Amino acid sequence: MGSPRSHCYGEFTFGVKALDSLIGFSLMPGSTILLTGHPGSGKTILALSMCYANALRGHPCLYIGFYEDKAKLYTLASRLGMDIGDLESKGLLLFVKFPVTMSVGDVLDNINSIIKERNFKVVVVDSVTVLLEGARERERAYALNYFYNLSNIIEGFIILVAETPYDYKILMPGGLEFVADIVLMLKYRVERGLIDRFLEIRKARGSPVSIVEIPFTIVEGAGLRLWPPPLLGEVVEDPEETIVVPCSRLAKVLSPGTGKLRRSETILIAYPPDARHIYVAAIPAMIILANRMKALAVSYKYSEGVARALLSESVKLILGEDPNVEALVDRHFTIRSVNPFGMSLNQLSALELKMLEEGFNANIFHGVDVPMLSFALRDYVPTLYNQRTYIKGRGILNFRMFSVVDERLYRVNSTLSDAVLRLRLKEGNGGELSYELYAWRRGFKPQILSEEDLIACIKEASALIKARVKT
Ligand SMILES: Nc1ncnc2c1ncn2[C@@H]1O[C@H](COP(=O)(O)OP(=O)(O)O)[C@@H](O)[C@H]1O
Ligand SMILES: [Mg+2]
Repeated sequence: MGSPRSHCYGEFTFGVKALDSLIGFSLMPGSTILLTGHPGSGKTILALSMCYANALRGHPCLYIGFYEDKAKLYTLASRLGMDIGDLESKGLLLFVKFPVTMSVGDVLDNINSIIKERNFKVVVVDSVTVLLEGARERERAYALNYFYNLSNIIEGFIILVAETPYDYKILMPGGLEFVADIVLMLKYRVERGLIDRFLEIRKARGSPVSIVEIPFTIVEGAGLRLWPPPLLGEVVEDPEETIVVPCSRLAKVLSPGTGKLRRSETILIAYPPDARHIYVAAIPAMIILANRMKALAVSYKYSEGVARALLSESVKLILGEDPNVEALVDRHFTIRSVNPFGMSLNQLSALELKMLEEGFNANIFHGVDVPMLSFALRDYVPTLYNQRTYIKGRGILNFRMFSVVDERLYRVNSTLSDAVLRLRLKEGNGGELSYELYAWRRGFKPQILSEEDLIACIKEASALIKARVKT
């Protein structure tokens, strides 16, 4: 193994950003990594991602399999966005399959001759469970010792994949879990018939870890992605990034004194479920248009077509009949609809954050009462809290539109918002109904805008938008 000891361990990667930042310090030359979990938990995908990412950085990877077919593995990889064939042709990645019937001694001999020929920096054994199944105690100890030393010999690291709980024996004292420098356990739970995946950091020598269980998703085209809760300390709010509230009456409430709003705030827009009015869609629409923002609008209630029609209607309410309404909607809004009943909470949250990465500076979650009703509140609140923190950290203006199906849920939403605009119905002396807007911003006294105030507000915004935005 002639290569000089030039490796700064910062060159190695888990191939998963969050793992690099959480336990990157543990991944150094000479490391042994144990990936364990039940069948289908994602071990092969994680091992492959690590192998691939390091090969991409010029650290050749040897992937040793027993059951998995080369063609199958390549297809799996390509569906997750990894082009293994390309790296293989460059000599950076080699997949070798040994027959299950081969003896442990023969497998190790074969590995030896392969690594003598080529300078691999990463070796994956998928899986040691299969290799060591049926092996005698001494053979097993010999193999584990061999693998443990291998990472030093190659001056890189080795990844051992093990199934749980079937390999309980090899995880016994003196076994893998004890000698490994890093132990990651992949798990899943089934929630409403849907898979929720978690990665548990059981051990990471040299890294201080405070979060041990991290949700993750496996996404077609993008691969394995971890979603660690953002730390509040890491969130930097940029006070310079302010936006204009295009109507003085509302500006007085939302941004007292300055007339400007911070871009990283969460604004709750609430309304009675049995008296929904287009006013509530006009408020985020006018702020987004006046500031020429690019917004992601996710509806949990309506199809993309219906949500779009609603948005167009609200823009028409602001601008009047204008031939350019549709073009404006296209320019400033990307509309998606999501059925929260079709996914687990982690999947839903991951999907939303992933969508937001497409370069938006505002978003509207429409109909948040639906996911709030479909998940247990004790699960939903931490996810909502983390998401809000994540959005804040990215300076995204966050509108949450909520039908007040329940006062308690309204209060949960309010407590996690920087401002609340709640449309209410009011009965006059003669029994006639009109709307009013209860408006509050953190740190200030709530105010109430009448329906006339609201109409005047929209009119004022209209003039400002027409002046600022090419319609
Ligand atoms: N293209 C894909 N998109 C989303 N999920 C996938 C994709 N391919 C595989 N998976 C998921 O990954 C899981 C298999 O992961 P794998 O790494 O083979 O598990 P293990 O090696 O732990 O048995 C399957 O349960 C499947 O749901
Ligand atoms: Mg596997």
